[in-house]
Amino acid sequence: MKIEYSKRFHSIPPYIFAEIEQLKSKKRKEGVDLIPLGIGDPDLKTPRLIIDELIKQVQVSDNQNYPSSMGEEDFRLAIQRWYKIRFGVELDAEEEVSGLIGGKEGVANLTRAFVNPGDIVLCPNPGYPVYENGATKLSDGIPYLMPILEENNFLPDLEAIPTEILKKAKLMFINYPNNPTGAIINTDFLKALNDLSEDYNFFIAHDNPYSEFTFDDYIAPSILQLSKNQVEINSASKIFCMTGFRCAWIAGNKEIIYGIRKIKSQIDSGCPIFIQKAVIRGLNEYRSSQRPEIVLENIKIYEKRRDVLINGLNEIGWKVNKPKATFYVWAAIPENDPNSMDFVKKLINVGVILTPGIGFGQYGEGYVRFALTQPSERIREAIDRMKKVI
Ligand SMILES: Cc1ncc(COP(=O)(O)O)c(C=O)c1O
Repeated sequence: MKIEYSKRFHSIPPYIFAEIEQLKSKKRKEGVDLIPLGIGDPDLKTPRLIIDELIKQVQVSDNQNYPSSMGEEDFRLAIQRWYKIRFGVELDAEEEVSGLIGGKEGVANLTRAFVNPGDIVLCPNPGYPVYENGATKLSDGIPYLMPILEENNFLPDLEAIPTEILKKAKLMFINYPNNPTGAIINTDFLKALNDLSEDYNFFIAHDNPYSEFTFDDYIAPSILQLSKNQVEINSASKIFCMTGFRCAWIAGNKEIIYGIRKIKSQIDSGCPIFIQKAVIRGLNEYRSSQRPEIVLENIKIYEKRRDVLINGLNEIGWKVNKPKATFYVWAAIPENDPNSMDFVKKLINVGVILTPGIGFGQYGEGYVRFALTQPSERIREAIDRMKKVI
């Protein structure tokens, strides 16, 4: 039997980090102590009250049955309440909210309902690779890469997108607070994006999982504050340090929500009910637009780590600006290093693991991403080690 992969399958690039993984396991076997600042998985604990609720809810036999792929009614109502409290946005839980098994699933399935072969999907680059691959290419769409560059504060240059592309675009993914750059957006820019989408008849999917991961006085907006013709994807993964639980949601335009619900009903059976209930418990801690203590206590820890990293890098002569959001730091690699992959390999030799910018697309070359997922002492240790080789 000859197994043949589809053309669609081949459109997805090979796993770029394979060589790094090999190098890491070699170092580990040699007994090198590794400081992992690569993967964006919060190391802090899921709040206790969420875990307690989960333990309670998993024991209820009704919660052990199939969930609904679009989310239980009480979950959708909790999301409705959250948007009202957090963003001042009124939603109808019946038609304008759907549950997701993680934001990744939402990003990947969204295009299936709207993209025909050859349609354009506008994707930020550097960016979360799923926009380009899992979402666009696996739906036979064509990604148009919008460079998000430091000279434009990591925002897309809207005037640089050709009119012909805009006319063929079905949707645009945006992600602010941004992975990997840590960049933020203001409502004026969201308005410019919303105007463009109306002029050219495509919709915007605001992937917003870091909306609560902001520092100093910055509060992140949602595209839904500008228009309910768009959609936002958000997730319990980062807000409540629940990456392993797989619970997220999409909200906004009811035709778009109808589209993704229909697709999902043929693919998955939703996030387990007891997990949805645990997330409701967390969401209900929001009593005003301010983030509740269970969220803020973790954010304060990441903020301190951010300061430790940036101050430390600046001290060793590596000039990097403080991001106002996310738990990522995006740093231009030192000038004498040729590319991000080789630079990352060099740092693995001293046991510091970063993600090369090229892993987020061609416009990420020349940068590395730090994830602040280690305690401050380990970050300081990483700086001492890097000092010897940069
Ligand atoms: C920009 C962005 N979108 C989506 C996700 C996926 O999050 P989830 O855990 O909800 O699938 C991530 C995870 O790192 C992300 O960085």
